[in-house]
Amino acid sequence: MRRSDLPDGFVIGTATASYQIEGATREGGRGDSIWDTFARQPGAIVDGSTGDVADDHYNRSEEDVALMSDLGFEAYRFSIAWPRIQADGAGAPNPAGIDFYRRLAESLLERGVTPWATLYHWDLPQALEDKGGWLSRETALRFADYAAHVADRLGDVITDWITLNEPWCSSFLGYASGHHAPGRALGSASAHAAHHLLLGHGLALEALREVRPEARVGTTLNLYAVEPASDSGADRDAARRIDGLSNRLFLEPLLSGAYPEDVLDDLGETEWFAENATDDDLRRISAPIDFLGINYYSRHTVAAGSAPAPGSAPSAYPGSEHVTFVSTGAPVTRMGWEIHPDGMLDVMRQAHELAPGLPLYITENGAAFEDTVDADGRIDDAQRTDYLRSHFAAARDAVEAKLPLRGYFVWSLMDNWEWAWGYSRRFGIVHVDYETQARTPKRSARWMAEFMRG
Ligand code: FCB
Repeated sequence: MRRSDLPDGFVIGTATASYQIEGATREGGRGDSIWDTFARQPGAIVDGSTGDVADDHYNRSEEDVALMSDLGFEAYRFSIAWPRIQADGAGAPNPAGIDFYRRLAESLLERGVTPWATLYHWDLPQALEDKGGWLSRETALRFADYAAHVADRLGDVITDWITLNEPWCSSFLGYASGHHAPGRALGSASAHAAHHLLLGHGLALEALREVRPEARVGTTLNLYAVEPASDSGADRDAARRIDGLSNRLFLEPLLSGAYPEDVLDDLGETEWFAENATDDDLRRISAPIDFLGINYYSRHTVAAGSAPAPGSAPSAYPGSEHVTFVSTGAPVTRMGWEIHPDGMLDVMRQAHELAPGLPLYITENGAAFEDTVDADGRIDDAQRTDYLRSHFAAARDAVEAKLPLRGYFVWSLMDNWEWAWGYSRRFGIVHVDYETQARTPKRSARWMAEFMRG
């Protein structure tokens, strides 16, 4: 597998997210986000940590830009923390927040790295959550307002925009299972959040296009390859449900302008959507985008099980609680996620069938493994290196299969605060010593650098 197996112009970048790396949560006039609040709740984060310090990237962005450019990355996908721009989620943009991202974008451009900005990677201003968060339609309007401010102030230095990161996680981990901020367990009503997030995307897209007609705008979904554990009707129905909730509930409104009826029916939300997801909303949600971002990590193999015992933990798959996720015996990462590179082609095909020719980018792919630092300070992460190599091969296969894949971003540039797992899971190709904040490229980073150099 060589760089030259990928077409000219194929973008190779790396990705991070604001709350996972920035730290400095009280600096520069930043307001609280739902993750600040959530992380402080006892038991919410496995190691009891918060993102207050994280990688201290807010104070080290110059060094981090130098690092990624020295490794040879051509693009950097980062996210803008909404509460740095509007501490309470409304009103005039905060100059200190704008300055931080302007300096970041400028230093990237100086080094020939193209900035790709995600507007929402999960850090909703807490003040908006207090008014209902994504369960409230109003939040979608606030999001468009924020997008317009950011486009106005930063659109001269940033051309590539991603509205949302993984609305499945925001809706169902945030409002159904409660594993993510804001930590609510509301069952099927969590699907209302999905609609408001998608509406927020549509409105933000409109705002960006109006302020910056030259902008390239897309959105990012986390898609899973989904397989039934057997050919039985019940297992195939389980796969239909999980594919429905994880993939089609987002892909279809965005790319075909309609929600999948079977999924609304599984959720028991047909009536709410009929009343609240208006034709006008769907027109906005399905307005043409310049590309679709796909975060691909793994495959789900599912079977029909029995209804969960009363009192069991709330599910991230409301209405489909009887579905069980089964192990195929294939190797897994430290997250327990099955390693299945071919699934990357499956999810691209699914998107391509709905919107033939729409440019696709893998906006995240990567793996957590247990890393060890040896006596010489080296991190020989052979498993992560293999994971990346096999997914680059899948990217090459996708291009050969004539799927419109235009680029790939590795998750993540450096170890960071992995949400509910805190600092206990490392996804970086660069190691971070959280005591000293020293950054050390792992073997996977050196492999990527050689790969990118060809
Ligand atoms: C994705 C998130 C990203 C990171 C990776 C491991 O779901 O977008 O922030 O947590 O998983």
